[in-house]
Amino acid sequence: MLSKGAFGVLCSAILAAQGRGGANPAAGDREAITRGEKTYAQRCAGCHGRDGKGGEAPSLHKSRIVVLSPDQRFFQVVKEGLPGVGMPPLAGSDSMIWEVVAYVHSIAKPGMGLPVPGDPNAGRAVFQEAGCVRCHIVEGRGGVLGPDLASIARQSSSTAIRESITEPAVRVAPGYRAVAVEFAEGQAVEGVLKNEDNFSIQLMTSDGELRAFARAKGAAVRSRSSLMPAGLSNRLSSQQLQNLLAFLDRQRAPSARSETGFQNY
Ligand code: HEC
Ligand code: HEC
Repeated sequence: MLSKGAFGVLCSAILAAQGRGGANPAAGDREAITRGEKTYAQRCAGCHGRDGKGGEAPSLHKSRIVVLSPDQRFFQVVKEGLPGVGMPPLAGSDSMIWEVVAYVHSIAKPGMGLPVPGDPNAGRAVFQEAGCVRCHIVEGRGGVLGPDLASIARQSSSTAIRESITEPAVRVAPGYRAVAVEFAEGQAVEGVLKNEDNFSIQLMTSDGELRAFARAKGAAVRSRSSLMPAGLSNRLSSQQLQNLLAFLDRQRAPSARSETGFQNY
C-alpha cells in the first residue's frame, strides 16, 4: 500500500514527466521549437525527410500519431521507438524529446504552427470592413454562403488561407462548388451547389437564399468558378492583409473536418 503522501509524490512525478498531464510543455515556445528543429535535422530528417514529408520512412504530415493522437503518445513513440519496424528510439532527455515533438507539430499539425505575425484585433476589423463577415461565420456570427471559418487555422496552413483570399478560384473548399443553372429561355441563376438528384437541384444564391429547381424544366447545370469574389485582397494594404491573416490564424476551434484523410497506421 502506498501512503497518501507517497501517492501524491508519485502522481506529481508522473505529471512532471508528462508535462502538465500529457500536454507538451514546449508547445508554442519559439526557442524550444528552434532547438527541436536542430534535433530533428540531425536525428530524424535522414529517414523522414528534411520537411517531414517522408523519405525512406513515412511522411509525418499524414501520421495519426503526429496529427491526431495525444501529445503523450507521440512523445512515447520518439522515446521508445517502434520496435520491429525500423523506427529507432531517440536517446536524449525528456525535454529534448518534447522539443522535437513541438517542432514536428509546428510543421505538420494544423493549428500548432507558431502564431502568424500581425495584429489579430486589427485583422478582426478588416474582416468586418472588407465584407468577409457577409459570407463567413467567425466568433459565432456571419453569413453562410461560404464555409464557417471558426476552425480554419486547424484545417489549412497559413499559405493556403492566404491563397484562398488572394486567388479564390484556385482551390474551392469541399462542398462549395459553384454552379449556374441555365434555362432554355436564356436566364441563369448562380449559386453554391447544395444538393442534386435526378429530379432537382438546390442552390444557395449569393444573397444567402436557398432555391430548388426541377430538372424537368430543361435546366442545364454548368460549373463556374468560386463564388468567393476575386480581387478582395487588392483593396487591402499589405499590412491589412497581414493582420487579416493573423486574425484567421487565431481561429482554431476543434473541428471534425481535420479528422479525415489520414494514413491508416
Ligand atoms: C532510421 C530511420 C528513422 C529515424 C532516424 C527516425 N525514424 Fe521515425 N520512423 C521510421 C520508420 C521506418 C517508421 C515506421 C514505419 C511503419 O510504421 O511502417 C517510423 C515511424 C515514426 C512515427 C510514427 C508514424 C505513424 O503514424 O505511424 C513517428 C511519429 C516518427 N517515426 C517520428 C520520428 C522522429 C520525431 C524521429 C527523430 C527523433 C524519427 N522518427 C527518427 C524510421 C525512422
Ligand atoms: C460573397 C461571399 C463571400 C465573401 C464576401 C467572401 N467570401 Fe470567402 N468564400 C466564399 C465561398 C463561397 C467560399 C467557398 C469556395 C472557395 O473555396 O472558393 C469561400 C472560401 C473562403 C476560404 C477558404 C475556406 C476553406 O474552408 O478552405 C477562406 C479562407 C475565405 N473564403 C476567406 C474570406 C475572407 C478573408 C474574406 C474577406 C476578405 C472573404 N472570404 C469574403 C464566399 C465569400
